Amino acid sequence: FVPPVAGGGSGATLAGDQEGNPITLESWVKSHKENDRELVQGLKGEPYYLISTADNIKDFALLSVCTHLGCVVPWSKSNNKFCCPCHGSQYDENGKVVRGPAPLSLALAHTTTQDGKLALTPWPEKDFRTDLDPWWK
Ligand code: FES
Repeated sequence: FVPPVAGGGSGATLAGDQEGNPITLESWVKSHKENDRELVQGLKGEPYYLISTADNIKDFALLSVCTHLGCVVPWSKSNNKFCCPCHGSQYDENGKVVRGPAPLSLALAHTTTQDGKLALTPWPEKDFRTDLDPWWK
């Protein structure tokens, strides 16, 4: 067995569906369209958005927990934003905060596959949206 994730950090966590069952990339691609965003159980069992491309998923996932007071932030396809129902914070399609009161962007994780199943790994390096060190480390 060769782990697909390089480096000595913590390993990959398989993404889980609503029942916590693993999800294959193949079944995900069949049931999603490009630019779809849908929640899975990710790192530490927390809800992360995976983002669909035409025939795969993007290489990052977004923690759906609002950085203001922790509401789960729904994706609004018509606005192409994540819009928090609690106090109106907004995040762009990559989870970068564009309207407060949320102070910070949504946390990132890497996506990968393990034996064809979707998985997440921690994101310890710079946030590509802000070029800052991650606040979620
Ligand atoms: Fe999201 Fe307050 S918890 S805006």
